[in-house]
Amino acid sequence: MDTLQIGNTTLRLVQGDITEQDVEAVVNAANSSLMGGGGVDGAIHRRGGPRILAACRQIRTEQYPDGLPAGEAVITTAGELPARWVIHTVGPIWTGGGNGEEKILAAAYRNSLALAHQHGLRTVAFPSISTGAYGFPITLAAPIALRTVRDEVQARPGAFAEVRFVLFSEADYETYRTALEVLAKAA
Ligand code: APR
Repeated sequence: MDTLQIGNTTLRLVQGDITEQDVEAVVNAANSSLMGGGGVDGAIHRRGGPRILAACRQIRTEQYPDGLPAGEAVITTAGELPARWVIHTVGPIWTGGGNGEEKILAAAYRNSLALAHQHGLRTVAFPSISTGAYGFPITLAAPIALRTVRDEVQARPGAFAEVRFVLFSEADYETYRTALEVLAKAA
């Protein structure tokens, strides 16, 4: 199963590269500095170009001099990407599960969708936040990500046409597909 219909919103899983998604906003798995990095962050800045970093610098100066806290989200231009906006969020670094990592992961998805809605954006693509360099076990992260997005979409009927999860590897895609099946059965 790679889609779940929630009212007028389609929650869709795709295997691919987040920088290639033709949606209004792609979500970046950033770090608090907002100055770029590897993985999703590196790919978005590399392909999106310097305008994204310039906008991030301005956000750091004007709003977050100490860095973007984990779980929070900000929005910038998408530069040269097919998408129009990048929503930068910072996921939790996994330290074993006893330090509120699950709550912070849910907040990253929740705040990213809230920001997209504030900007009237109707199509949003997420990567699998925190399951790469930040070490969050993907089998735990996928149900949290899907449930949080389902709840936020249900709370905003008609706000979104499509919310997409873009999984880089076949294995990640399969993990999310299994989690989506479980979520759909429980619905
Ligand atoms: N498109 C979609 N998914 C991708 C891409 C891509 N181009 N590149 C990597 N991924 C996947 C990874 O396989 C992983 O499953 O995104 C998931 C998140 O991995 P990371 O990008 O490492 O993000 P995260 O675990 O949240 O760590 C964030 O890494 O890149 C740095 O600056 C970033 O310090 C921050 C940290």
